This record gives sequence, C-alpha cells and structure tokens, in this order.
Amino acid sequence: MSKKILILPGDGIGPEIVREAVKVLNCLRDHFGLDIAMEEALVGGAAFDDSGHPLPKATLDLALDADAVLLGAVGGPKWESLDISVRPEKGLLGLRGELGLFANLRPAILYPQLAAASTLRSDVVSGLDILIVRELTGGIYFGQPRGVETLASGERRGLNTLVYTESEIDRICRVAFDIAMKRGKRVCSVDKANVLECTELWREVAIRVGGDYPQVELSHMYVDNAAMQLVRAPKQFDVMVTTNLFGDILSDCAAMLTGSIGMLPSASLDADGKGMYEPIHGSAPDIAGTGVANPLATILSLAMMLRYSLDAGVQAERIEKAVSAVLDQGLRTPDIFTEGNEKIGTVQMGDAVVSVLRSAAI
Ligand code: IPM
Ligand code: MG
Repeated sequence: MSKKILILPGDGIGPEIVREAVKVLNCLRDHFGLDIAMEEALVGGAAFDDSGHPLPKATLDLALDADAVLLGAVGGPKWESLDISVRPEKGLLGLRGELGLFANLRPAILYPQLAAASTLRSDVVSGLDILIVRELTGGIYFGQPRGVETLASGERRGLNTLVYTESEIDRICRVAFDIAMKRGKRVCSVDKANVLECTELWREVAIRVGGDYPQVELSHMYVDNAAMQLVRAPKQFDVMVTTNLFGDILSDCAAMLTGSIGMLPSASLDADGKGMYEPIHGSAPDIAGTGVANPLATILSLAMMLRYSLDAGVQAERIEKAVSAVLDQGLRTPDIFTEGNEKIGTVQMGDAVVSVLRSAAI
C-alpha cells in the first residue's frame, strides 16, 4: 500500500522550498518506483488566515493519519502581534505535542564543497559530522505553569517552567545512545546541572542509561561551555543530547558551522518511527517570494523521511548523492554562494536536483 505523506508548506519561504521538495518526491515516484500518496494542508499563519487557528483539526487529523509529514516553515511578522495561543509557532508545537514527536534529530554535516561558505576557518569545520538529539515535547517549551500574571502590586510577572520526568529523559537518551552505536559511539549530554535541579536529574538519568551502552563513551557538558566548544572545536562532538530549549539554541549554532542554515534537515520522531521532517531554518520572511531561498535543507529532510519513516534507505541515498552532485556542479543559492560558483535561485536548484536524479548517474 502507498505510504501517505502529508505536505505542510506553511508560511514565508515554506511554500517555495516545499514545492521543490515535492518535485523530488514526484521524480522518485515516477521514475524510481517510490510508492507514495501525497496530501497537502494548511498550518501556521496560512492556516490562521484561513480558519483562525494555526493547527486546524482537519490538518491534525491528516497528520495523525499520515506515515510521515513534510513541513516547510511557520511564522512571520504578519502574525507576531497575535495572542501567543494562536501564533503560527503554536501550529508547529501542537503538531510536535499531538503526534508525540519527542526525538528531534538535527545533523550538522559540512559538505566538503561548502567549506569556504562557513564563517569559521575550514580546518576547524572540514569533515564536521555532528548529530544533535533534541528533546522536543517537554522541558520549558511545554512545562506548566506558564503565562504572564498580574501581581497584587499591579506589576506583571512572566513564568515558564522547566520540567522533565525521568522517563522523558530516559527515552531521549536511549535515542541518542542507539544512534551513537551506529556512528562514532560517543554521546555528550548537555545540561546546566550546576544551577538547575531539573538538569541535575537529566545528568543522573543520562548516566544510568549510559550503563546499558558500555560501548558508548558518555561525557557531560554545561550548555554555556557546549556553545563555546561548538565554535571553538566542533569536531570533538559526535552525538549531543539535550533539552528542548538548549537543543533549539545549540542546533542553530551548529547549523552555522556548516556555512548555511539553508542546508540542514531535521527529523522529529515518535516512539514508533513516525515522523515529521522539516528544514531547521525558519520561514525567512525577509526573502519570501524573491525566489532565492535554498530548498536543499527541505530536500535533504526528505532523505531523512525516506530513511527513518518510509524504510527506503536506497531512495534516501539517491537524494543525498544528487544534492552532492549539484554542489559539485558549482550550483549555489545565494546563502551558500562563494566566488567561482554559479548563483542560482530556488526553482533552478530544485530542477538541478531532479535533473541529476533522472540522469543515469544516480
Ligand atoms: C525550531 C524553531 C521552533 C522552536 C519555533 C519556530 C517554534 O526555532 O524548530 O528550532 O523553537 O522549536
Ligand atoms: Mg530553533
């Protein structure tokens, strides 16, 4: 039976980059036997404009029913003044929470062809291959109580809660250790155990889980030091596992090591391997509609989808090889452009990937 993929273009550059990724899916379906059926729905600001809610029930139902979800990006200045409960970001957080997508995998890989595009010296970043495993449905993003309250004095007080149960920490650490077993067998657990009790527990549980993986070397790092180490000597890391908020911050930082946030895919998985796949960059409203957004992070997210949710590792490799071949051809969107290459736009980049895919070489 066909695998069902729900396509959620979202806002800003979302629709432009997702369109290119869909071309790639169509190509794999039409020419390489990938058995899929696609549906499309609204999420984020686009959904709010349509129905007054960033995650309409119809979209959630389709997502629950799908084998995998591809999401572009959500948010933009147009919706920034809305109440937080209906902001586009709530659509994304709602999907993560409702689908139970607790494990967010954010690889930061430097393509050798792009070493010159990083702001860091190429000897610091060349060969970089880090995987950040971010907890995605707990922590301060979801903790209660939360909100802004007015005190008796009339002054307002904002409040969010950092909370993790042992089982939440246990399951995300297991994801990190399982993946580390298939990679460099090193896990760095990032916390702020010197200040926050919640992450003191995080460290304790990480050590306990580590006991089940004697072949994996476990280290610990405070988040401030981890941020510094990521820009000082990023190649010391293999797999990093951390909380929702720390992972949000560190993954942006890791992304920049690779030259452009426009290159990095992500997977958000539930306990059974069902997942939502999205580029880690946002909706980039400043360049939306100008045709220059880099679709490669979204296209590479498809590769993760094929590998993790659709059991189609060979198809995933096709995509990854095609992306690498396009970079070899010197084709670059502006975010990854360096002298001596050819600057192209979103649609041309999508077309270039499809054309390589269709050539006998892949
Ligand atoms: C991310 C984004 C989201 C997050 C926003 C858009 C809610 O920054 O996926 O990293 O904070 O998780
Ligand atoms: Mg983020």
